[in-house]
Amino acid sequence: MDINKFVPKFRLSQSNLLNLSDLTAEDIFELLYAAREMKKRFRVGENYPALRGKTVALLFGNVSTRTRVSFEMGIRQLGGDYLFLPKSETQLSRGESIRDTAVMLGRYGISAIVLRAFTEAQVHEFAQYSSVPVINGITDETHPLQVLSDLFTVWEKKGRLDDLKLAYIGDGNNVASSLVMGCSKVNMDMAIASPHGYSPSQSIVERAMQFGNVLITDDVAEAVKDADIVYTDVFISMSEEDDEEKKRTLARYRVTPEVMALAKQDAVFMHCMPARRGEEVSAEVIDGPQSIVYDQAENRLHLNKAALALLVR
Ligand code: CP
Repeated sequence: MDINKFVPKFRLSQSNLLNLSDLTAEDIFELLYAAREMKKRFRVGENYPALRGKTVALLFGNVSTRTRVSFEMGIRQLGGDYLFLPKSETQLSRGESIRDTAVMLGRYGISAIVLRAFTEAQVHEFAQYSSVPVINGITDETHPLQVLSDLFTVWEKKGRLDDLKLAYIGDGNNVASSLVMGCSKVNMDMAIASPHGYSPSQSIVERAMQFGNVLITDDVAEAVKDADIVYTDVFISMSEEDDEEKKRTLARYRVTPEVMALAKQDAVFMHCMPARRGEEVSAEVIDGPQSIVYDQAENRLHLNKAALALLVR
C-alpha cells in the first residue's frame, strides 16, 4: 500500500500502543499522518489541545533523554499535564504487582500510561488491567515508538516508504526487531547484517517475513548494497553489562564512510541515539552530510504527540 495514496481518518484500530506486530499498515499510516500534522503545527507555533485537562503517567524504569523529554514537552504542547514516576520510587520496586498498579493509576484520573524498561510480558499485563491506554516506551525486545518515528523520518526524507531498502548493521537488539516488523508492515525491504549469534530473534523475523522482504546475513556489503537507508544502534544496550567480547565481535560491523559508499549514492544514515562515535559508527558518518540523526531525534516529539492524540479520547 502506498502511504501517499492513503486517506487518514485519524483513528487507530487499537486502544493501546504495545507493539508493531499489533498494528496494521493503516494504523502505522494514521500515526505518520498525525505526526506530520503535529510537526506542521509545531513549526508555526500552533498548539493542538488534544490533552487539555488530561494527565499522562510516565512510568520509567531506566534513564532516558529523547523519550522522556519528547513526552514531557509533547504533553505540555498538547495542553496536558504529566506525572514522571521513576519506577524505583514506586511500590513496584518493592514487589507490588503490575495488576494493582495498573488498576489504581486509572482510579486517580490518569488518562494514559507510558511504560519504559518493563518486560514485554509486563507491558501486556499492564494493558490487560489498565482502564486507560498503555504505550510501550521500550522493552528489551522492542522499541515501537522509535521505529514509528523513524518511518515518519524516512517518509519525510524519501517521499515514500515502499520501494526502499533499509540496511541495519550491528547488534540485532530491540530497535532492530521493531525495525524488521515496522519495515515489513509498510512494504519496505530490510536487510540486517550481524555476526552469528547477534541477529534479531528468529520468531520476530519469521513473523515479519509474512509481510515483506527481510534478508538476514553476516555480510555487511550484501546488506548495504543498494540501500536507501543505513541504520545502526549501540553495541551494548542499556539493559546489558559492558561486554568487551561483544564489542570486539561487533567491531567489523561499524558504519564507516567505506560502508556508506556501498549503499546508494543518496543513502541517508540513521541512528536512534544515544550514539558512541568510534564504536558502532564513525564520527565522519554520524556528523557527515548523509546523517539525518537530529531530524530523526526531533521526530520522536511529533510521533509521540500523534500517538497520544489518537489514543487518548
Ligand atoms: N532513542 C531513545 O529511546 O533515546 P533515549 O534512551 O534517550 O530515550
